[in-house]
Amino acid sequence: MTQAQANIGVVGLAAMGASLSRNLARHGNTVAVYNRHYSRTETLIHDHGQEGRFVPAKTLQEFVASLTKPRTAIIMVKAGDPTDQMIDDLADLMEPGDIIVDAGNAYFKDTIRREKAIRARGLHFVGCGVSGGEQGALLGPSMMPGGTDESWKTLGPILESIAAKVDGEPCVTHIGTDGAGHFVKMVHNGIEYADMQVIAESYDLMRRGLGMEPEAIAQVFEEWNQGDLNSYLVQITAEVLHHTDAATGKPFIDIVTDQAGMKGTGTWTVQTALDLAVPVTGIGEAVFARGLSSSPELRSQAAQEDLKGPQPKAVMADLATDPEARKSFIEDIRQALYASKIVAYAQGFNEMQEGAQVYGWKLDMGAIARIWRGGCIIRAKFLNRISDAYAAGREPGSLLFDPFFKQAVEQAQDSWRRVVARATQAGIPIPVFASSLSYYDGLRSDRLPAALIQGQRDLFGAHTYGRVDQPGAFHTLWAEDKSEIKQD
Ligand code: 6PG
Repeated sequence: MTQAQANIGVVGLAAMGASLSRNLARHGNTVAVYNRHYSRTETLIHDHGQEGRFVPAKTLQEFVASLTKPRTAIIMVKAGDPTDQMIDDLADLMEPGDIIVDAGNAYFKDTIRREKAIRARGLHFVGCGVSGGEQGALLGPSMMPGGTDESWKTLGPILESIAAKVDGEPCVTHIGTDGAGHFVKMVHNGIEYADMQVIAESYDLMRRGLGMEPEAIAQVFEEWNQGDLNSYLVQITAEVLHHTDAATGKPFIDIVTDQAGMKGTGTWTVQTALDLAVPVTGIGEAVFARGLSSSPELRSQAAQEDLKGPQPKAVMADLATDPEARKSFIEDIRQALYASKIVAYAQGFNEMQEGAQVYGWKLDMGAIARIWRGGCIIRAKFLNRISDAYAAGREPGSLLFDPFFKQAVEQAQDSWRRVVARATQAGIPIPVFASSLSYYDGLRSDRLPAALIQGQRDLFGAHTYGRVDQPGAFHTLWAEDKSEIKQD
């Protein structure tokens, strides 16, 4: 008979699962481990067994039997059907009160569905977003668990033991019920896409516009990393740009195909935002930019057809050749990056605010910003400011109204506008810089051309419009005498 001795178990020992198991064991947990092919379990125990207390299991039955009650198992298998299958298999072997945790990048609506089904069987189901990649899983990730308060009582201390720590605070908090954790992780990934894209746009402006070499650009990012833009993504950007390809001796960046991949979380963020009618233009443009990059047929046809446009270097020659002008344009790019990044976060937080309303969660925005300060991919210095903006239950509506960010964008905007204008003249695509600026201008416009759209809608479809001078809905008899009628 297997003795129940492990306070936590991990199913699925590929890169992320193995790293998370080791992190758990290193922090005093006794970790039951199971993998469909036992060889992976053996490798983990052989290579890292001395790092803590592991209880290897050959079968799922043995795995469940080795867990103390309430049995708590973290699933780290492939998203989709394999996850559903594993949840079912575990639920069959577990008892009411036990906890199943899905720590993959699941779609939050799947998590809501799974939680409901598992709850009906008397067990707890926790959809838990985990960010930080393999290194994060091993050394301290940022974690976003959903599920019941009761499951958090057992799971909370375990997750706190392995999370990244910032100022002594663990980067994990109970996000909310059912799919809340995976929803917040999805938005995290959406912001990650936008953040990566604005960094890429900055690089492109320096490379193709100013004609700078990767090494010189790496140094710029290193410098930026010392200030307001201090973040993991800026830091790794410098690392990628410094790297030389061993086979060719060329800058690594030049030997990588320029087609960005994606696994779908950014797309979910945009699809969800469309359903919620929340504009997340920065994230949307970042997803579409990856899509455009990965359309080889279209791009090669464009090259064949020789689509005409300006040559960036020629148009930006004045900046490239004058050291002072170049320096000041690089500073403009830094400001444009900062402002666009603020817009992307503002939009992502709006999506979470709206999602909380629609899906019935009580999301603590300040706490979410705090757990993103460490461990996760978008960890950045300025998340402290976001957490301040939402501190003590403050709800600024948009981060752009918070005094700190309002001032930051105001300060950045002349630069931001110059960058968008110069890039557009030079023919360098800057979808997130430009759309974020348009969003900002849209927000601050006292009168938008939406009035014209209402007029058009009323003319062709009798969709009615509101008037600025009285309440109610109105329709103009466009095809008749153009008199106006008030709708009931
Ligand atoms: C994280 C990341 C991670 C994501 C990768 C790849 O927070 O650790 O968001 O969850 O899977 O970044 O995402 P794409 O393949 O979609 O770029």
